[in-house]
Amino acid sequence: MCGIVGYVGKRDAMPVLIEGLHRLEYRGYDSAGLAVISRGRLQITKTAGRVQDLRDKLAAKAGASSAKTGASVAKPTIGIGHTRWATHGEPNEINAHPHTDTANRIAVVHNGIIENAEFLRDQLQASGVHLASDTDTEALAHMIAAEFAADESATLEDAVIRTLRKVEGAYGLVVVDTKNPDQLVVARNGSPIVLGLGNSEMFVASDVSALVRYTKQVIYLEDGEVATIKATDYHTATVTAGGTESSGIKVPTTVDADADDYELGQFSDYMRKEIHEQPDAIRRALRGRLEERFATARLGGINLDARELRNIRCVKFLGCGSAYYAGQMGAALVEELARIPADAEPASEFRYRSPVVDPDTLYVAVSQSGETIDTLMGVQELKRKGGQVIGAVNVVGSAIGRECGHGIFLHAGPEVAVASTKALTNMAVNFALLALLLGRVRDLSSANGERIVNGLRNLPAQVSAILAEDEGISTIANRYADADHMFFIGRVRGWPVAREGAQKLKEISYVHAEAYQAGELKHGPLALISPEMPSLVIIPSDELVAKNMSTVEQIKARGGPVIVVTSFAELPDTIADVVIRVPRAEPELEPILLNIPLQLFAYHAAAKLGRDIDKPRNLAKSVTVE
Ligand code: G6P
Repeated sequence: MCGIVGYVGKRDAMPVLIEGLHRLEYRGYDSAGLAVISRGRLQITKTAGRVQDLRDKLAAKAGASSAKTGASVAKPTIGIGHTRWATHGEPNEINAHPHTDTANRIAVVHNGIIENAEFLRDQLQASGVHLASDTDTEALAHMIAAEFAADESATLEDAVIRTLRKVEGAYGLVVVDTKNPDQLVVARNGSPIVLGLGNSEMFVASDVSALVRYTKQVIYLEDGEVATIKATDYHTATVTAGGTESSGIKVPTTVDADADDYELGQFSDYMRKEIHEQPDAIRRALRGRLEERFATARLGGINLDARELRNIRCVKFLGCGSAYYAGQMGAALVEELARIPADAEPASEFRYRSPVVDPDTLYVAVSQSGETIDTLMGVQELKRKGGQVIGAVNVVGSAIGRECGHGIFLHAGPEVAVASTKALTNMAVNFALLALLLGRVRDLSSANGERIVNGLRNLPAQVSAILAEDEGISTIANRYADADHMFFIGRVRGWPVAREGAQKLKEISYVHAEAYQAGELKHGPLALISPEMPSLVIIPSDELVAKNMSTVEQIKARGGPVIVVTSFAELPDTIADVVIRVPRAEPELEPILLNIPLQLFAYHAAAKLGRDIDKPRNLAKSVTVE
């Protein structure tokens, strides 16, 4: 959702901002805009469309102005930009950011939600201010301007801090001021802001993907911090009850992503690229984390010693969407390998139901982006109640990672497509490591530990073998893409796989897909089986093969087409209309492999239907608002 970019330096700010906005498009948005300071005045361009529309508008404006003056105008070297996902007010050009005060002195871009916006807007209107938009953000621009009216000698940072003291809610924001045209003031409270340090130039963004093209040296702001950024220097301060305190010297972090990680290369879209990156992503997750000698895992980031690990009596995974299904896979792994009760719950449910927080439970907050608001709020609720929580996040410096303090980095590399693939796989792989670690401080024998270590090592090559079947799965998906509805059926180890498979199909192809536990079919959904309702049945190589085969028979007997995805090589091809085969793995790890053909199935079905695969309708990559 919403994205922020900012630039101050020596280059033409416009292309830097546009490029940054383009890189943030994957997050999901409905309108975009930017503001630069040109010859002492704000120049604002907005659109209710895509970043490309903004680019076209700017090109048209530039063409018109050079035709008029006949001269080339000095390029602006400072500016801010935004992609907006509408919360307050509909997604039109007026509500798009940046927002300004009445005199067009101040421009603001903002992520997050100001909770007392209505009150602030009423106050402004009562004092005679005309509000042009329906947004919470516009109030900030007027309030900052009012601070200057009250105290002419205030710095921009002072005016921003004084304003933020009156504001309740979450924000990541950037402000420019025509009277201070050499600086950007940024602030963070609940919504990520990262500074990019260049050579006599500085960048700001809500997400490093907008910066990596220009610099790898970044500083993540903490909640409650503000920063003033000039081309050649910057300072950060923490807002306290009484004033501000310098946050001291910050050591920049080197981003470990390359600009190339965000390029499509030979692929037509990011989802396919990310599906094919999975063998490497798994290798990265395993690097340095397998401890051969003791047949266990090494997860330094969780910061728990053997005694503390032993004291954990229960493990609970919290996440949303695919992260929740990955949590289900994790819970199964923990129960199987460590024999500790474990389960998963959608973070959105957890945060609202006043959960009983057990001090001996290890809670794991699962999130690719590390920004999902429901998961973040779940973590805060847990911390408030004294719960023990670690993060399992993919984005370094993200809100959930910071809030948890300790955790497991997923090491999937940047994931751009809205539909999660390699991040989900790496979640499951990392949970296998966690389960192995928890198991080995308990009763999991070293022989069994070794079996899992070897099983994990084999995964990248096994995933590559499945990906080599891409074309065959594409043919199958093309055959079924016209279905209006599909069932995804799984039992025990196959159940989270079925849920994730159904989710993937519906989110990118818009084909209605429902997941059912195999045993539940006869308690209702069997009534829906017909030649028009294909079922995809997951059959791992475990003691439940026979039961799963009888599920297939039940569906076939009612005329339902069946696709089987299995690792059980002995299963005859005649069992179903189509059989998709994956290599056999250690049984506990098989869900990781069985999920891969389902990603390809969803991908090819969506491609056949001509969907916008990387940006499915109504969805965002990271859901940072309610
Ligand atoms: C959104 C995305 C899903 C994702 C979920 C959780 O709904 O569309 O693909 O699984 O958020 O995201 P997270 O970043 O917390 O893993």
